[in-house]
Amino acid sequence: MALTDNHNSPTVSSPRPPARPPVYLIGAGPGDPELLTLKAYKAIKQAEVVLYDNLVSEPIRALFPATAELIYVGKQRHRHQLSQGDIEAQLVAFAQTGKRVVRVKGGDPLVFGRGSEELLALAKQGIDAEVIAGITAANGCGSSSEIPLTHRGLAQGCTFVTGHGRNEQPIDWSFLAAANHTLVFYMGLNALPQIRQQLCQHGMAANTPVALVENGCRPQQRLIHTSLEQMAHDALRAQLQSPTLIYVGAVTELPLQLAQLRAQAASNPSQFATLAKESA
Ligand SMILES: C[S@@+](CC[C@H](N)C(=O)[O-])C[C@H]1O[C@@H](n2cnc3c(N)ncnc32)[C@H](O)[C@@H]1O
Repeated sequence: MALTDNHNSPTVSSPRPPARPPVYLIGAGPGDPELLTLKAYKAIKQAEVVLYDNLVSEPIRALFPATAELIYVGKQRHRHQLSQGDIEAQLVAFAQTGKRVVRVKGGDPLVFGRGSEELLALAKQGIDAEVIAGITAANGCGSSSEIPLTHRGLAQGCTFVTGHGRNEQPIDWSFLAAANHTLVFYMGLNALPQIRQQLCQHGMAANTPVALVENGCRPQQRLIHTSLEQMAHDALRAQLQSPTLIYVGAVTELPLQLAQLRAQAASNPSQFATLAKESA
């Protein structure tokens, strides 16, 4: 008997459309694939569509599934390929196909990454999304070059600042210059003279130590020790390129101190052996 013939028969509901998977906004960290979280790795491995930025390093791109559709949506200075609005529209369109979509960004998606704008764009279309944290450049590059963001007696806090300041609210330079804390400028390589000028004008000493970290957490990482006064000159002389972070504050001298201590230990190992015996 056909089900439709009998009006008293139990209702047969039409199958529910399969639930759409959430879009994952993934932080890829500063470059070293071993700094990816396990959660990020698993989501990447299951992706059918990957939209990724130019700061996502080659070794991390190599983890993208061979079967996935890969879409480069990177923005580079003077070479904007897609507007932020275009990226959001693409993200929404791919998510609406029901495929497993991941959006991979350098560092953490919610630190100078416009990830929150993408979350809003997805939410406006009723699309679920989940953020998977990444190691932001300030943390990753600090650790890989042994610059602590805080250190007892030297820095009680740390502020992440955008160096380009385009379309942003005005920066409170007197707050930045005054506090006993570490400053980390993202996207500041082309604004070094203005950063120096503003910080000095608001009272920071011109000889404040600075470290510049180019390509942090990557095999080609470079670390340059300089000062507020000299940083623009030294960056030019070393021909530093993006991505580079600018660390300002006394903590930037720690790698120098460590190098000195290690050199002392290497040149006089017996002294350390004696100390170890005495304290045993
Ligand atoms: C658009 S912001 C993206 C920040 C990213 N969302 C994060 O959390 O690290 C790009 C800036 O981050 C910094 N940056 C990112 N990765 C870096 C790396 N591996 N080495 C040095 N600086 C890096 C640079 O200042 C670069 O201009």
